[in-house]
Amino acid sequence: MKIAETIREVREQVKKWRQEGLSVGLVPTMGYLHEGHKSLIDRAVQENDRVVVSVFVNPMQFGPKEDLASYPRDLKRDAAICEEAGAALVFHPEPEEMYHDDFSSYVDMNTLTGGLCGKSRPIHFRGVCTVVAKLFHIVTPDRAYFGQKDAQQLAVIRHMVNDLNFGIEIVGCPIIREKDGLAKSSRNTYLDAQERQAALVLSRALKEGRRRMDEGETDAGNIIQAITEIIESEPLAKIDYVEVVDWNTLEPVSEIQDAVLVAIAVYIGKTRLIDNFIVSE
Ligand code: PAJ
Repeated sequence: MKIAETIREVREQVKKWRQEGLSVGLVPTMGYLHEGHKSLIDRAVQENDRVVVSVFVNPMQFGPKEDLASYPRDLKRDAAICEEAGAALVFHPEPEEMYHDDFSSYVDMNTLTGGLCGKSRPIHFRGVCTVVAKLFHIVTPDRAYFGQKDAQQLAVIRHMVNDLNFGIEIVGCPIIREKDGLAKSSRNTYLDAQERQAALVLSRALKEGRRRMDEGETDAGNIIQAITEIIESEPLAKIDYVEVVDWNTLEPVSEIQDAVLVAIAVYIGKTRLIDNFIVSE
């Protein structure tokens, strides 16, 4: 497995693979890889001849008060995980390689990005779309893999690929959880022991929401209330949002009919965690 730090190296490698007629899968990540990332890499390895994993903590998607400086990094460990999983190339650029001094072009989206995480993170999806569009141009993969953990991101990327004719298949992959239910996340490393225990309230609350829906509850307000009550019973938790939205438009629904995304963002201490489930009819 190779580690490339420059766009040129990636382009040259992909060109060689293309000349051999090989298919290419891309797994974009910010590193500090865990089982969630690994499930994406595993799937990509199954479905493509060669797999590129990008490891890049993208400054553009972090707000000024967010955790860019403290975001965990461990390239050595990440590379070992990628190699073991069967990736062919890790792309690990420095910020200057991705954003030269007079960089001034962005990919922005008028729909899908205003609600949910977009509300408290106003510049986030512009940064995500811009870096993912760049990665797509650099790697030119046949398929790219994204987790349902970041459900809004998955919807946004699908929309971007359709709007801008990338011709890349976007593969959505299920949420991987710890044994006790907590969705795996690089940010879980910020939690101390007490917060780690408190963080279980996210999956517990969603489970209750799901149970109510399975029992036939179709009033979104009642689902939101049930989830909210459970989260509010945890003293270390502070709700950013609890929402039930249409899975295609990400617009809030009042009555549950078609496919819906039930999504939450909760601060546990200073750490903001997200989780969700999708119910498709
Ligand atoms: P990052 O948070 O590192 O996540 C990389 C990919 O792993 C995303 O598609 C995310 O949804 C997926 N993932 C994370 N935790 C997961 C879990 N528990 N189960 C399944 N998949 C999981 O998302 C980003 O990076 C960035 O925004 C990026 C797309 C790389 C652009 O910078």
